[in-house]
Amino acid sequence: MILLDGKTTSENIRKELGEAIQLRKSKGMKIPHLVAILVGNDGGSKTYVEAKVKACEQIGFESSLIRYDETISEKELLDKVHSLNIDDDIDGFIVQLPLPKHIDEMKVTEAIDPKKDVDGFHPMNLGNMVLNLPGFLPATPAGIIELLKRYKIETEGKNCVVIGRSNIVGMPLSIMLARNTNPGNCTVTLTHSKTKNIKEICRNADILIAAIGKPDFVTADMVKNGAVVIDVGTTRVEDPTKLSGWKLKGDVKFDEVAEKCSYITPVPGGVGPMTIASLMINTLRAMELKGI
Ligand code: GUN
Repeated sequence: MILLDGKTTSENIRKELGEAIQLRKSKGMKIPHLVAILVGNDGGSKTYVEAKVKACEQIGFESSLIRYDETISEKELLDKVHSLNIDDDIDGFIVQLPLPKHIDEMKVTEAIDPKKDVDGFHPMNLGNMVLNLPGFLPATPAGIIELLKRYKIETEGKNCVVIGRSNIVGMPLSIMLARNTNPGNCTVTLTHSKTKNIKEICRNADILIAAIGKPDFVTADMVKNGAVVIDVGTTRVEDPTKLSGWKLKGDVKFDEVAEKCSYITPVPGGVGPMTIASLMINTLRAMELKGI
């Protein structure tokens, strides 16, 4: 079994991006500026957003974190989105999800200028993704694809089963893996809460991707010998042995599944760091596409 080390892979990508930024700086060119908007105090969202801002600093990007109380109105948030859309200094921005219940996430996502939508969540970018046209790919699926590419994992003609049909991961990833691209050209089955015989379907997977946010959902009896297993789960569970009192848990029962796999991602240190690397790649591209 080979561990798909997202942490090291993302560090390599960050190094490559850092070099590109140094080169731009040495020529007196603009450096990318990413803005992250965080609404409320959810611990998980705060951790992710802070990691994104830290990655920017490490690479040499400019970054800004805008925080709002969870009582912010939808209009106030939309006004901020509109002002970021027209701010020439900002190359890309993200609104961390989920948002409080009184705010319509789709309305906010649709308000973002697709050219600055470095999360790749805008319907225009998702449409381009489906048609294999240029646009921003959603960060987590793009990170998974990059991980498969860098480990030279063959995907063509493979049976791929995705568990979970979220707009952020499962749905776009199932499409990306089915496209006529490399990595891609898989025969994809997208499973979800209404799927019958899910265990049986998973057992047929050469590549199994778990993205449902249910700790330990994938057990050894659901995995074919030699399968590639990608764990997108990052649920916080209590852990009194940790200083923070919690740890991250994936959707895959790692200890029993790992021994059956050819490749597997750990949690943490697998998909998570790759998401951040993809966001950085998208942000640099957003700036380059402006022709500056
Ligand atoms: N919430 C969970 N993952 C993501 C992500 O990649 N981007 C944003 N904006 N919110 C998220």
